[in-house]
Amino acid sequence: MIDLRSDTVTLPTPEMYAAMAAAKLGDDMRERDPTVVELEQLAARLTGMEDGLYVASGTMGNLVSVLAHTGRGGELLCDPDAHIARSEIGGFAQVAGLFHRYYKADRGCPDIASLTSMLKGKITPGSLATGLVCVETSHNHAGGSVIPLPVLAELRELTAERGIPMHIDGARLFNAAIALGVPASEIAKHADSVTFCVSKGLSAPVGSLVCGSTEFIQRARLFRRMLGGAMRQAGVIAAAGIVALNEMVPQLAEDHRRAKAIAEGVHRIDPRFIDPGKTETNIVMIDVGHTGETPAAWIKAMGERGVDLRSYGATRLRLVIHRHIDDRSVDGVVSAFADFNGRLSS
Ligand SMILES: Cc1ncc(COP(=O)(O)O)c(C=O)c1O
Repeated sequence: MIDLRSDTVTLPTPEMYAAMAAAKLGDDMRERDPTVVELEQLAARLTGMEDGLYVASGTMGNLVSVLAHTGRGGELLCDPDAHIARSEIGGFAQVAGLFHRYYKADRGCPDIASLTSMLKGKITPGSLATGLVCVETSHNHAGGSVIPLPVLAELRELTAERGIPMHIDGARLFNAAIALGVPASEIAKHADSVTFCVSKGLSAPVGSLVCGSTEFIQRARLFRRMLGGAMRQAGVIAAAGIVALNEMVPQLAEDHRRAKAIAEGVHRIDPRFIDPGKTETNIVMIDVGHTGETPAAWIKAMGERGVDLRSYGATRLRLVIHRHIDDRSVDGVVSAFADFNGRLSS
């Protein structure tokens, strides 16, 4: 089966298993776990931030960031398709006590005018102050799109002059960095904090990192404990995260190349399926609306042809490319699309 459901299906590499077996360990809640410390420092260095915090997941990373920035109160501004809004069970509201509003965005890229009109530095008699602005890059629900650096720079300026913190949900930060051709720190420098996952295309089995100032990470560490996320000999899994960051980033460029090849192959079958120009990273969104078949029917038909994928919304399919997808799999995916599409039109 060619498994395109997510890049979270990636398995640890042999080098990761070796590093896990050899990891130096300690109680991270007491004297600290040296391997966790090494991973956190590496993450901080790569993002150009002062400190890092190892957390169980991207969801936990976003939630401790929200808590550490806002301390219960204010408004969270994000785009309507943000992972934090759609897929994190409302943690920012349920746990952090925030109200939220959506700014306008085009494929995850904030509309500056819309966002500016919503920024409120102070509480007024009729409205809450903005507690946090959250942006997502690369953007999952928008199909792996990447926010251009000038947009981030402008946002940073707008929020900073009002004293409003800005968080980047960079679950796939290194994919975004590769797409822009810059180090991850060039993206992260436009925010007060960033979350990224080592458990997605980077192939580590568990974990995400939150990075920010020393003082911010101190607060985030407390909130991680509050959420039950303080781990003990977590160096066992952090060791794989270190290998992920040191060795697996170049793989993401291969994933992007293959994603583009699938997008172009499916476009050649029928341009209505996809505009390959919109495949910027490792996520391919294919619209099957014009075929008269539902995404569920497509998923079943593709499954019968050895391709496992997910639906996204009423008419779209989502394909996520990762290191277990090779060039033969790319051809297999395109052939499976051509085959089922051919049957529909014959
Ligand atoms: C943009 C984004 N943020 C956060 C997350 C949450 O990560 P996790 O599944 O590790 O909680 C994901 C997961 O897919 C994501 O795509």
